[in-house]
Amino acid sequence: MIGRVLVVDDEKALVLALRGLLKKEGYEVDVAYSGEEAISKIEPGAFHLIVTDLSLGGVSGMDVLAHAGGVDPDVAVIMITAYGSEKIAVEAMKHGASDYIPKPFDNDEIRVVVRKVMETALLRRDHQRLLQQVQEAYGFEQIVGRSPAMQNIFSMIEKVADADVTVLVRGPSGTGKELVANAVHYRSPRRTRALVKMNCAALSQELVESELFGHEKGAFTGAVGRREGKFEAANGGTLFLDEVGDMPLETQAKLLRALQEKEFERVGGNQPIQVDVRLIAATNQDLEAGVTAGTFREDLYYRLKVVEVVLPPLEDRREDIPLLIDCFLKNAAERFGRVPKPLTGEALRAALVHDWPGNVRELRSAVEQALLLSSGSEITADDLLGPATHENGHVPVRVDQPPPTFREAKERTVQEFERRFLEDALRRSGGNITRAAEAVGMYRQSFQQKMRELGITADQAMNGEQKGVRP
Ligand SMILES: Nc1ncnc2c1ncn2[C@@H]1O[C@H](COP(=O)(O)OP(=O)(O)OP(=O)(O)O)[C@@H](O)[C@H]1O
Ligand SMILES: [Mg+2]
Repeated sequence: MIGRVLVVDDEKALVLALRGLLKKEGYEVDVAYSGEEAISKIEPGAFHLIVTDLSLGGVSGMDVLAHAGGVDPDVAVIMITAYGSEKIAVEAMKHGASDYIPKPFDNDEIRVVVRKVMETALLRRDHQRLLQQVQEAYGFEQIVGRSPAMQNIFSMIEKVADADVTVLVRGPSGTGKELVANAVHYRSPRRTRALVKMNCAALSQELVESELFGHEKGAFTGAVGRREGKFEAANGGTLFLDEVGDMPLETQAKLLRALQEKEFERVGGNQPIQVDVRLIAATNQDLEAGVTAGTFREDLYYRLKVVEVVLPPLEDRREDIPLLIDCFLKNAAERFGRVPKPLTGEALRAALVHDWPGNVRELRSAVEQALLLSSGSEITADDLLGPATHENGHVPVRVDQPPPTFREAKERTVQEFERRFLEDALRRSGGNITRAAEAVGMYRQSFQQKMRELGITADQAMNGEQKGVRP
């Protein structure tokens, strides 16, 4: 058993006996012969456990306990109390002592109590460390942005995270909606519980409902066993419903009921199931238009938008672009084991004026590709945006043809981008759709639907790679 212990007593013989005993158990042991000495040795992280006598001359065991709690809230304290002083021992427990051992004690008793308390203390520390890692991974540190719009979003997340209200995250594709959902959950008191994600796009009503609420055996053809839904899986935690605008109308009614009454039934079941779930929803659709058209329930709309976080397209916060590039470059270099390369001035200018229809996701994939494919010591505008799509940052103009409408041009660019993006993801995953979707942060269903829309097959994408050509 590992762990660092501080033994505190003004009886020298007892201190030495305890030290010998605990060392034999494998702990690292330090000693103090007075409360004052103990206090001078307690520092954040210095000990996992303090074993102290309650009655010391001068600074008492209770003082040591209070001091330890202030300096290092994670440290555990065991009180050694004189025979018959149970009342004070209980008092010490109320003030945060983990346990007490009445004198006289035998060695076995000490061993058992110390082991038990140490185990808990170490577990708690591990848990804290994990939590911190998770928070670093999903806190604001992951969401990069210095524009006023993003600063505003950070302070909003901070305000609503622990309020347990429903949050609706809106914004065009690739603007970071899922990152916002992560940040809200991992900054909320529910952070130690599950964050369950579900995409409502491209699923039939039957499937959405069975995913959401689970189903009973035989609820429909193919329902061979009972299955738990996302709502149950998220109990105590957070449910993230992506593309909520695509949810079938009938399902919306059931979702509303589950939210309002905190209760639902599995598909094909009639037993109400109670849950405590916080909902975060995201969409890039015009829900208001859906309400007007009758495809989105107005009551659900108001229930969802208690708090609305709206992410602007990247072209409306261009001042974030240099910071994002920097961050994606460092990150990619680390992941791919390359040295980070700087952008040429021209490349940076081109990036600043480019429209980025795929928003931050497109920027990120452009930076990663550029780092992988560039041959020089710097990343050029060609590396970043492909040849001839820029000229001092402007798309070259052809005058011999009537110009496409804005909508046509944008559509074409988006499609071209999506095609390149999907094919690239497929190539990297060796044609495995599930892994490709996961790597780029898309749900498999949406990824497959996009492939169908664009007429991409995994084979094609792979063949393109072998011949070294790009369709
Ligand atoms: N502000 C940001 N800082 C760092 N990375 C970002 C930021 N915004 C988005 N990204 C990155 O861009 C990609 C897309 O982000 P995310 O999946 O959150 O977008 P989304 O809005 O949910 O898109 P979609 O509507 O397509 O689902 C991710 O790789 C994410 O890490
Ligand atoms: Mg998303």
